[in-house]
Amino acid sequence: MAVRIAPSILAADFGCFRAALEAIEGAVDIVHFDVMDGHFVPNLTFGPALIRALRPASKLVFDVHLMIERPETSLSSYIDAGADRVAIHHEATPHVHRALMMIREAGRQAGLAINPGTPVEAVFPLLDAVDYVLVMTVNPGFGGQSLIPATLKKVAALRRRLAEGGRRIPIMVDGGIDPTTIGPAKAAGADEFVAGTAVFGTGDPRAAIAALKEAAGRMTGGR
Ligand code: DX5
Ligand code: ZN
Repeated sequence: MAVRIAPSILAADFGCFRAALEAIEGAVDIVHFDVMDGHFVPNLTFGPALIRALRPASKLVFDVHLMIERPETSLSSYIDAGADRVAIHHEATPHVHRALMMIREAGRQAGLAINPGTPVEAVFPLLDAVDYVLVMTVNPGFGGQSLIPATLKKVAALRRRLAEGGRRIPIMVDGGIDPTTIGPAKAAGADEFVAGTAVFGTGDPRAAIAALKEAAGRMTGGR
């Protein structure tokens, strides 16, 4: 399984997002946007205007993580702004399947995110409707938290389920990923790793990305 690091600009300097993208361009192929609405999660970050403003400045895949209530009411704004992938939360709407279909019908990749308290079985009936699953390894809302180990059991259960169904889609983990946790997360079956603090919280984002890839390879015997 290839290791794909998705730096989260949540941990970057909010006054210099363009510089943050430049700092990782070439070292990764994807960047993670944490959209928070102050309702689904207590924190408030940014909306589609930021994605629109940054889109011409970068060739990276824009991976948008919507931590917002009723995402079906506004997700088209994020698609229009230039999101390549959009993840919605299972807990955020009674119309999860409809919202996933809206993303796919717009020709973008649809992701389904689950909080630590949500059983992984909740995504099983929806697997045919998703292009990737985002397993939260912390409670959403803030960067800089510690990974909750029990969430990796859900990653493993999901990877098993996918294998049984002959399905090979990415499992993205998000929260508390650093050089000590990326190996266990990869061993559990994750292949995409959001990293905020571990990339932008350091003085050298490129070196930090290399260290994460190295740690993933070292702890699981391959990349
Ligand atoms: C948390 C966000 C994460 C966050 C991860 O709600 O979804 O993407 O940026 O930050 P770190 O890597 O610092 O845990
Ligand atoms: Zn995120």
